[in-house]
Amino acid sequence: MCLFQRISRAHSSSSSSTISTRMIYCILLSIFASLVYLLVSLSLSRFQPKDTAYFLSSQDQSQSLTEIDHIVFGIGSSTKSWPARREYVKLWWDAQRMRGCVFVDRPLSSLVNDTDSNLLPPICVSEDTSRFRYTWRKGDRNAIRIARCVLETVRMFNTSSEEVRWYVFGDDDTIFIPENLARTLSKYDHTSWYYIGASSEIYHQNSLFGHDMAFGGGGIAISSSLANVLAKNFDSCIERYPHLYGGDSRIHACVLELGVGLSHEPGFHQFDVKGNALGILTSHSTRPLVSLHHIVHIDPIFPNVTTFSAVSHLFSAIELDPLRIFQVSICYDRWYSWTISVSWGYAVQIESKHLFLRDALRTQKTFRPWKNSGGLASVYTFNTRDVHPDPCQRPVTFFMEHVSSSPSDGTIKSVYKQAYQNCTYDPISSPRKIEEIRVFSTRLDPDIRQLKAPRRQCCDILPTSFNGGKVLEIGIRECKEDELIYIHP
Ligand SMILES: *[C@@H]1O[C@H](CO)[C@@H](O)[C@H](O)[C@H]1NC(C)=O
Ligand SMILES: *[C@@H]1O[C@H](CO)[C@@H](O)[C@H](O)[C@H]1NC(C)=O
Ligand SMILES: *[C@@H]1O[C@H](CO)[C@@H](O)[C@H](O)[C@H]1NC(C)=O
Ligand SMILES: *[C@@H]1O[C@H](CO)[C@@H](O)[C@H](O)[C@H]1NC(C)=O
Repeated sequence: MCLFQRISRAHSSSSSSTISTRMIYCILLSIFASLVYLLVSLSLSRFQPKDTAYFLSSQDQSQSLTEIDHIVFGIGSSTKSWPARREYVKLWWDAQRMRGCVFVDRPLSSLVNDTDSNLLPPICVSEDTSRFRYTWRKGDRNAIRIARCVLETVRMFNTSSEEVRWYVFGDDDTIFIPENLARTLSKYDHTSWYYIGASSEIYHQNSLFGHDMAFGGGGIAISSSLANVLAKNFDSCIERYPHLYGGDSRIHACVLELGVGLSHEPGFHQFDVKGNALGILTSHSTRPLVSLHHIVHIDPIFPNVTTFSAVSHLFSAIELDPLRIFQVSICYDRWYSWTISVSWGYAVQIESKHLFLRDALRTQKTFRPWKNSGGLASVYTFNTRDVHPDPCQRPVTFFMEHVSSSPSDGTIKSVYKQAYQNCTYDPISSPRKIEEIRVFSTRLDPDIRQLKAPRRQCCDILPTSFNGGKVLEIGIRECKEDELIYIHP
């Protein structure tokens, strides 16, 4: 302001002494004004609540971290599939803290209903949906019943005295990691309208059903504010979509009608693959693992065990550090030029050559597509790399054997054992000489800022590695401020 005045007055005035007097006056005035401003703002700031630090956006202030208790689950099942699927639900369901319902088509026999009912969600019989039309050729009209879990769950819980922030829907073969689900939802304000999930891994599936659709098997999270409005209009909405295939397509269509789009979260996994899922599980996003699906359609994720014991084994790691499960850290052995990739709680892989981080993070194509129809069926929605046809040329893989936590300092130790392959190898330079890998870390506990902008952690080969090279010890830690992940020359 003073600058403009000075210029305009310089033009209108003939005396330079007047100009300098005015300038001094002007400067004094600005100093006085800034002092007053400083004093006022200082005194105001003393009355501001503590949590208005500049980096918090308004939505973070309105709520604490979302807890498991804030979520209500609606699980789509059937009388036929429930007896087998409920064993998996038992792995993640916590009857003390979780609310929700498993929807079946007909009443269960009292034997099935009562067995372990204290470890499982209550069973609800879906309402009759025969009045709705279903016209997808050779499809399954249960899709309508499954979609209506949204309406029936909301109606059952929206008058609950305990706060509901989120409704989460899944299939009876969806395996949720509840801690991670809650932490992921903490990023979002449930009083705004959110529809959260992920699409399929298969490009073709997304082309058919929607790249912008939350696939039901991976789980669908709907904020309670949106769910209440959605439920109100749900029946009239699904009348318009008899020609859609699944329950998730109907939910998607009705959410779109309210003007809401998908908030994509890569921790939700539809898992439309078959065979060996190792490649996908060792290249997880830096966002927390929220769900797994179709687990009975893939090979057991650990060698030499049944599908169920493999998942149950995975949960032994999840229990000790849920937010770190599958998180990838990559470090290098400079001496041998090895690339070491830790997928925490699951597997460690060593490539006996240097891979840039961008290549190491690509998903190894160890799996098959959902359908063997050729063409687009094996086009994926993520980066891939081929697997060597000779198993002896592939990275050496170590699977999680056990995880323990030290009560004294909170260090978590996870131990990985080499999966045997009948290969000849150089006993000096091959990573096959390593029998066991021990990984040390601390519990991962990201706050909302870190969840919104996650950063991969770094790892080091520890000097404590011993036993003639048979045991490798690795530490995982936060990377230093400007640390880069590459093989140092
Ligand atoms: C299961 O049992 C509970 C109470 O014992 C009952 O309310 C419910 O209707 C039963 N559900 C089915 C599907 O049979
Ligand atoms: C609960 O949901 C039902 C069904 O949509 C709706 O009619 C009712 O108004 C909702 N109640 C509250 C308190 O939101
Ligand atoms: C597979 O498991 C069985 C039984 O637990 C065990 O006897 C066998 O040694 C295991 N095989 C391998 C290759 O680990
Ligand atoms: C390992 O491979 C060699 C050479 O291919 C073969 O002779 C041997 O029988 C195999 N051993 C086992 C245990 O399969």
